[in-house]
Amino acid sequence: MPIRRLSVRGVRNLAPLTIQPHSRVNFIYGDNGSGKSSLLESIALLSSGKSFRSNQIKQLILHDADRLELECEMGEPDEEKTQNLYSLRLRNGDVLFRLDGSVLTSQAQVASCLPVQVIEPNTFRLLVGSPEDRRQFLDWGVFHVEPGFIEEWRIFRKVLKQRNSVLKQKETSWLDVWDDGFMEASEKIHQYRLAYLKDFVPRFETTLAALDESIKVGLHYYPGWEKDSQLKDILARQQERDLQLGYTQSGPHRAELRIRVNKLPAADVLSRGQQKTVVAALKLTQGILYKQSCGNAPIYLVDDLASELDSRHRLALCQVLEDLKCQVFITSIEKQQLMDSWTPSDFKVFHVEHGKIEEESLS
Ligand SMILES: Nc1ncnc2c1ncn2[C@@H]1O[C@H](COP(=O)(O)OP(=O)(O)O)[C@@H](O)[C@H]1O
Ligand SMILES: [Mg+2]
Repeated sequence: MPIRRLSVRGVRNLAPLTIQPHSRVNFIYGDNGSGKSSLLESIALLSSGKSFRSNQIKQLILHDADRLELECEMGEPDEEKTQNLYSLRLRNGDVLFRLDGSVLTSQAQVASCLPVQVIEPNTFRLLVGSPEDRRQFLDWGVFHVEPGFIEEWRIFRKVLKQRNSVLKQKETSWLDVWDDGFMEASEKIHQYRLAYLKDFVPRFETTLAALDESIKVGLHYYPGWEKDSQLKDILARQQERDLQLGYTQSGPHRAELRIRVNKLPAADVLSRGQQKTVVAALKLTQGILYKQSCGNAPIYLVDDLASELDSRHRLALCQVLEDLKCQVFITSIEKQQLMDSWTPSDFKVFHVEHGKIEEESLS
């Protein structure tokens, strides 16, 4: 559901603010350092519990403040029903979430009612970064599309932890018992990911072609163990080494989505701009599949649209977002550059200056 009202307090340089975004497109412009990214970061933080810029959430809290507060009211424009999501974060790390006044116990619950996709200047890191980044990317999709996944993932994490603890304590006689549970849980995670990728891969190909027909990349799923082997055989083969290391080397916790051009990692072959296009296609594909299964698209946060995408690619990206009919928050330094890339029928414009944000009248 789109955000109808957003309140932010105590985030970086932003003065306490309340805005009423458009249910479709929101253009946000302002000088460097004015607070555009901080606004998008607030929405991403509310959804995922993470920032796309800092590893430590306390860096987002306004200097000298002890907390930040985020609140949003979500609802379809033509419906009366709304949901109110509130989150409070203290500098000491404590967090509180409430949905319509009731306390939520996990970030996953928050994420499922406020699904958000971020496209920002550092998103190319999805290609060059660690396998974990790409595993998390894949699992965002599986989590949002397959309701049973999160529970199976929790079970898997528990079994993995127990198996690792048996390995550390070298209790070899217990290993067989844990291995059965480990394999069962692994297989479930693997099947969820496979099913998601079956839809994802062809969609990704058409989306990437819509952004840039000349880029050809292949997606290869690595389940976390050698493809042609049974996990059972691998666990047996690796048991001695697992015992030495004190942890499990193979399994779904090592899965990866490998992104290649011919046989080489895409990160080693593509230019920075091409990498951004590929990552944008990956993120748009997740939104398309999400919409297909849930009816609504996620909210897109597109920070610094101009950064390293030329006007042709900007136009193509905006066209896919237009077709998705989702809520978008999109930033740029120049207002005109935004308007040149996109002339949606419905939008609002916000200007950010020294941490203050104001809606512009369109007359
Ligand atoms: N914790 C903080 N408290 C106060 N100000 C901060 C904090 N972190 C960053 N800033 C300042 O907030 C501003 C954030 O700007 P940013 O959102 O990146 O702007 P833009 O995206 O418009 O260029 C910068 O001027 C930065 O120095
Ligand atoms: Mg910025």
